[in-house]
Amino acid sequence: MESVFDLKSAKALLEWHAELGISEAISERPINRFETKVEANLGPKTSELKDNPINTIADNPTDQAVMVTANAKNLSELKAAIENFPHCDLKYGARNAVFSAGSPSAKIMIIGEAPGREEDFQGEPFVGRAGQLLDKMLSSIGLSREARDAEKSVYITNVMPWRPPENREPTQDEIDMMVPFLKRHIELVNPNVLVAMGNISCQSLIGRRGITKIRGIWAEAFGLPVLPMLHPAYLLRNPVAKREAWFDLLSLREKVFT
Ligand code: URA
Repeated sequence: MESVFDLKSAKALLEWHAELGISEAISERPINRFETKVEANLGPKTSELKDNPINTIADNPTDQAVMVTANAKNLSELKAAIENFPHCDLKYGARNAVFSAGSPSAKIMIIGEAPGREEDFQGEPFVGRAGQLLDKMLSSIGLSREARDAEKSVYITNVMPWRPPENREPTQDEIDMMVPFLKRHIELVNPNVLVAMGNISCQSLIGRRGITKIRGIWAEAFGLPVLPMLHPAYLLRNPVAKREAWFDLLSLREKVFT
């Protein structure tokens, strides 16, 4: 079917939306309301899922995630596996799959929750206001995402590679199907320790929430020590809690470098 839009009118419509202040997608998936069948734009159709061999072997998204991640031999294959994974609805409302930043040879792997608006735009984790604070926190103990030397670098990723609409919390189903990717990500980077930033990350790694209580208490996930820490977005809203974050940074430095 021919498109109802030429480039000029599509641009005009976009500008009109921007003028009205429409800057975000507010539903889970983009819907093309000009199409007679709304279902045409709702991600993969059941028939497409059936045609894809991975979908016929394992019968739920989490099992399929386990299967595809087992085949990822390196980080670029894992990134491609995430980008091609059709079952997480968040994918259909996001601009970019946000994979990682920093050095894969780092001893410290930081795991955040999910990309926000800026991260979705730029395709890189922790680049918005919370990310800028994270960079300052890391620099206070001599670490940086730009460093390549294992003693000074960090590797950063998120539990969810796609931005949830309006920054809502990911659902348990969404977390369950993406944790196998996170597990493989950790195996491939092979850090000495993990830092779980915030509740979603703690829930995904150690099965616990209540970050203000569990922060600073070393736990274990996938055979590695995990340090639960207050999320920098929380610290922006509650600057007095920076004191606790400072203790946790010192504990991190001591664990990894002494
Ligand atoms: N918050 C996160 O948890 N991760 C990001 O990448 C950005 C904000």
